[in-house]
Amino acid sequence: MIWSRDYLGSMFETKLPTRNLSLDLLRATEAAALGSARWAGLGDKNSGDEAAVSAMRLLLNTAPMRGRVLIGEGEKDRAPMLYNGETVGAGQGPEIDLAIDPVEGTRLLAYGRPGAISVVAAAPKGTLFNPGPAFYAAKLVVGLEAREAIDLKAGVAANLREIAKALKKEVRQLTVFVLDKPRHNALIDQIRTAGARISLHTDGDVAGALAAVLPGTGIDVLMGTGGTPEGVISAVAVRALGGGMQMRLDPQYQEELSNVTHAGYDTKRVYTLEELCADDDIHFAATGITDGSFLQGVRYTPSGAITHSLVIRGETRTLRLVEAHHHLDKLRAISPVTY
Ligand code: FBP
Repeated sequence: MIWSRDYLGSMFETKLPTRNLSLDLLRATEAAALGSARWAGLGDKNSGDEAAVSAMRLLLNTAPMRGRVLIGEGEKDRAPMLYNGETVGAGQGPEIDLAIDPVEGTRLLAYGRPGAISVVAAAPKGTLFNPGPAFYAAKLVVGLEAREAIDLKAGVAANLREIAKALKKEVRQLTVFVLDKPRHNALIDQIRTAGARISLHTDGDVAGALAAVLPGTGIDVLMGTGGTPEGVISAVAVRALGGGMQMRLDPQYQEELSNVTHAGYDTKRVYTLEELCADDDIHFAATGITDGSFLQGVRYTPSGAITHSLVIRGETRTLRLVEAHHHLDKLRAISPVTY
């Protein structure tokens, strides 16, 4: 039987499935994870990042898109990066803006701690927030049920109260993901005074945002200040999963503050999720590098390696968990390191 476009169209009611760019992006995060996981625990932040960057660039350039890296990562730490403005993709297809972090949690990788992941977020050109010279932003992230309950302008206790109400829980039943940084001492006190539990992590607030938005992770909300690239990357995942997020630029140093102000940004303004990511035709891929709470890290085997990834397509809200078995030859093609 030959299925006509009309017949297939009626089966899917709205429109025929189209090519899913998420799956091409998945190959890029897999490659970055495969390239960098060999550096886990070796104490060298830059080499693992470099391996991830070059592997990711290689695979991004096979994807059917005219891509531009809107937000690369590394500037803050002077780490190697896929540069902001760099063109990637196979040169045909849709015009796409990318926010990437080949190693989200470079310290986690370098010290062999859990939770390092490789991530790519993609959206139609011009639809992602550009944080300019801002390195840090305050973030508030929740899942679907609580997405109308958050307000970065309100206090910590008020937000926790509203989130608890939306989740039909008591505040003491909430768990808040917070980065364990001195700048969060007051925030941690306020959360504890309000009666909620805290899950402290040295790094990795993209994973924290995912945990807040995915059901059943034990995390109800992410609060606190982290990187702006990670904020925009998180916004794509949060929007694709139907969650709620707000963000406010929160410069941590005088020089950052003057650059941000000089560039015309208002540090009091709260950005909504729709301002951070203005389209639903979005894609997100993440692959575990070291073991994490919902993605296993790379496992090297005598014949290759196994990766675990999460892929989300915003248009259809499809979330895939992908276990991939990679042959040794592929690993060698991605990275010259001896496996
Ligand atoms: P890297 O990928 O740059 O190592 O970022 C790790 C991270 O913990 C992010 O998840 C977070 O947003 C940011 O650093 C926080 O920055 P800082 O460690 O400078 O407070």
